[in-house]
Amino acid sequence: MSEHWSKLVEWLPANDDPNRPRMTLSTAEPDARTLLLSEFDEHGFYFHTDSRSRKVEQLAEDPRVALTLLWPDFTRQLVVLGVAELAPFDEQARAYRARSPYLKQLAWLNDAENAQLPAEERRARWASFTDDPESLQPPETWVGFLVRPHRLTFWEGDPNAASRRTEFTLIDGDWHKGYLPG
Ligand SMILES: Cc1cc2nc3c(=O)[nH]c(=O)nc-3n(C[C@H](O)[C@H](O)[C@H](O)COP(=O)(O)O)c2cc1C
Repeated sequence: MSEHWSKLVEWLPANDDPNRPRMTLSTAEPDARTLLLSEFDEHGFYFHTDSRSRKVEQLAEDPRVALTLLWPDFTRQLVVLGVAELAPFDEQARAYRARSPYLKQLAWLNDAENAQLPAEERRARWASFTDDPESLQPPETWVGFLVRPHRLTFWEGDPNAASRRTEFTLIDGDWHKGYLPG
C-alpha cells in the first residue's frame, strides 16, 4: 500500500461511517462552501450536489479545486488539490442510497423556487412530500463529482512540538513526499 494512501485510510473515517467529514470545496473562480465528503477511494474524493448549483457552473468553467478537511475537530487538516470530474453513475446511485432520509428528501426539494417561500410554506411543502425515503430514487438534478488529487497536504498539530505538514505530490505518475513547516 502506498504511503499517501495508508495515511488517508488512517486519517479519514471509513466510507460506511455515517458521521461524514465536512470539507470546504474551493473553486477556481474563486468561491468556497462546506460539503460532506461522501466517500473516497484510490481514485480520489467524492462529493454530491445539485446540478443547478453555482459550484457546478463554476466546475464546468474550470474543474480545478481545493478541498480542505478538518478531521477530527481541529487536530488534523488535510488539503487536497485536484481536478473534479463527473463521478461514475453507479457511484452516484450508491452515494444517494447511503444518504440519510432527510438528505434524500432534501435532494428533491432544495430548489430555487422553494428558497423564495416563507418558512411555513417551506415546512408545508416538506411535510406534504409523501414518497418513502427508503425507496426514493435520486432526482435528475442529483450529481456526483470525483476529485482526482495531485497534491495531498497533511497538517498535524503536536502540543509538545511545532506543527508540521507532510506533503505528497504527484509528478509524472509518481507520488513524492516532503515535509513543510506547519
Ligand atoms: C455542514 C454542511 C454540509 C453540507 N453538505 C453539502 C453537500 O454535501 N452537498 C451540497 O450540495 N451542499 C452541501 N451543503 C450546502 C453548501 O455549503 C452550499 O450552501 C450549497 O451546496 C450551495 O453552494 P453553491 O451555491 O456554491 O453551489 C452543506 C452545508 C453545510 C453547512
